[in-house]
Amino acid sequence: METTTLPHTDALKEAPTTHPVHPLVRRRWSARAFGEASIGDDELATLLEAAAWAPSAMNEQPWRFRHARRGTPAFDALWDLLKPGNQPWTRNAALLIAISGVKHHARNEAPNASWQHDVGMATANLLLQATGLGIHGHLMGGFDKERTQEHLGLDPEREEVVTILALGRITDPETLEEPFRGRELAPRTRKPLDEIAFPL
Ligand SMILES: Cc1cc2nc3c(=O)[nH]c(=O)nc-3n(C[C@H](O)[C@H](O)[C@H](O)COP(=O)(O)O)c2cc1C
Repeated sequence: METTTLPHTDALKEAPTTHPVHPLVRRRWSARAFGEASIGDDELATLLEAAAWAPSAMNEQPWRFRHARRGTPAFDALWDLLKPGNQPWTRNAALLIAISGVKHHARNEAPNASWQHDVGMATANLLLQATGLGIHGHLMGGFDKERTQEHLGLDPEREEVVTILALGRITDPETLEEPFRGRELAPRTRKPLDEIAFPL
């Protein structure tokens, strides 16, 4: 019988929390060893809908998601915009998504002070939903922003790309070259709570 080696990295990467944090939060991590498995159309729709249900100032919903599947010219074009340090491990991602935000309120054209905040809220929803589906995501700020804006035909005064997200299903970390393999296996760390939270 054929046997497959399941990636053990999920267990390795689970956040070692001291309090009973929800498993979806503990188990989300930024993976790099994407395998061949794809993401279905229904799964993608679920991810996008989870993002859409995030809160936003005045319910403006400033987030926009432009997605491309591996093996398409659209994917190759987005991949080409990534910084060299992000290119080797994103080749196998099932999807790349350019995540952007509209910077003004639709109703009166006034600047929306919280557009970046709200794009982040939607992105977090998407990532947690992905975790629930066994899909891994990895956000990247490392891309050529100017060229990306041009490529997508976006006027930076109106709409700005914040991150490019790689999504997929993980495989054996040994498929990665260094330094990415080492990063895939490194423990996850966070500041202690008393450095980020203060009773008033
Ligand atoms: C806005 C943003 C930009 C990021 N840019 C990159 C990037 O260009 N390349 C990369 O490998 N990781 C990038 N990351 C991933 C972070 O390094 C990662 O989230 C952080 O180290 C915490 O690890 P964890 O997501 O596994 O908990 C980015 C994350 C965010 C939120």
